Amino acid sequence: MSKDPFEAPPGTDTADCASKSTCGMAGKDGSGCASCSSRSGAANPFAKQDASIADTLGHIKNILFVMSGKGGVGKSSVAVNVAAALAVGGSKVGILDVDMHGPSVPNLLGLGFGLEMDEAGERLQPAEYLPNLHVISMDSLLQDKNTAILWRGPKKTAAIRQFLSDVQWGDLDFLVIDSPPGTGDEHLTILKTIPQAMSVMVTTPQEISLADVRKALNFLQHARGRILGIVENMSGLACPHCGKDIPLFKSGGGKDLAEQYHVPFLGAIALDPVTVLAADAGTPVVLMEEDSVAKRDFLALAAAVAEACAKDAAVLLPPPDEQG
Ligand SMILES: Nc1ncnc2c1ncn2[C@@H]1O[C@H](COP(=O)(O)OP(=O)(O)OP(=O)(O)O)[C@@H](O)[C@H]1O
Ligand SMILES: [Mg+2]
Ligand SMILES: [Zn+2]
Repeated sequence: MSKDPFEAPPGTDTADCASKSTCGMAGKDGSGCASCSSRSGAANPFAKQDASIADTLGHIKNILFVMSGKGGVGKSSVAVNVAAALAVGGSKVGILDVDMHGPSVPNLLGLGFGLEMDEAGERLQPAEYLPNLHVISMDSLLQDKNTAILWRGPKKTAAIRQFLSDVQWGDLDFLVIDSPPGTGDEHLTILKTIPQAMSVMVTTPQEISLADVRKALNFLQHARGRILGIVENMSGLACPHCGKDIPLFKSGGGKDLAEQYHVPFLGAIALDPVTVLAADAGTPVVLMEEDSVAKRDFLALAAAVAEACAKDAAVLLPPPDEQG
């Protein structure tokens, strides 16, 4: 990469941002801050980068933004398995991991190598997992995997924008974005920079996770982000002996929530020990040779995601104040 990937563009510190009280949300004027991609052309120091991002996005058919209210509910597992399943089905797929504090995509894929420039020496080449599955993660740019990244919002925003402007993604059917838990700077940046991104909300069946998903849905309402649907992960336990369902936690909460918000329910993934084995082996469950409940569930989820994209089924929830 010609520029330092860790360097925020000048003026991107929100301390310098003239409109820091209003910027960050779609539809508001946020001139002067890098989080705000819709500034007027003349005084826009990021016009070139904006153009480069627009060019990248113009070559990507569907952008899936995997998010959740709570941490540890299976976002990264869903992102990696859906991406791998779509790739195995013949689609050209990219994975962008914007979880800078705990990037787990490289581990789930067993990727340990660095990144290279493209032939023109202008853009970064994403790591290749399969010929039609490429990956970019903050992790790939770090020399020492154990280094904690201590970044404030503006620098994260700058890095995420560079992942779109300075990476040679090429033509993609799907870009799957894995995110950190909650609704922070990374989420705002993605929704602001990629208004066409479709959120895939991952939850576990328990109320403690569902409550946080409601908050995340509320965030999407405010930020005017589209949602493709809800996924219930860790939905029942697949018995390691006979594969039968053990309702260890409750199940059905994700589906109920989807109905309540009138958003598609994309599928349920059982709690399955094979998921943990797969993670440790650095192989997505869907690429494991042996059959398993989680493998079937993830394949069905990927099919549902592809179908929802083909039908353009993503929903824009009404703003919170207009909801009945
Ligand atoms: N269906 C499942 N069955 C069994 N284990 C699972 C399942 N889904 C995820 N896990 C395990 O749960 C842990 C958390 O999953 P994962 O890292 O995908 O969650 P996450 O939401 O991305 O977490 P974070 O919020 O930290 O980014 C991992 O150890 C993963 O292997
Ligand atoms: Mg994760
Ligand atoms: Zn059993």
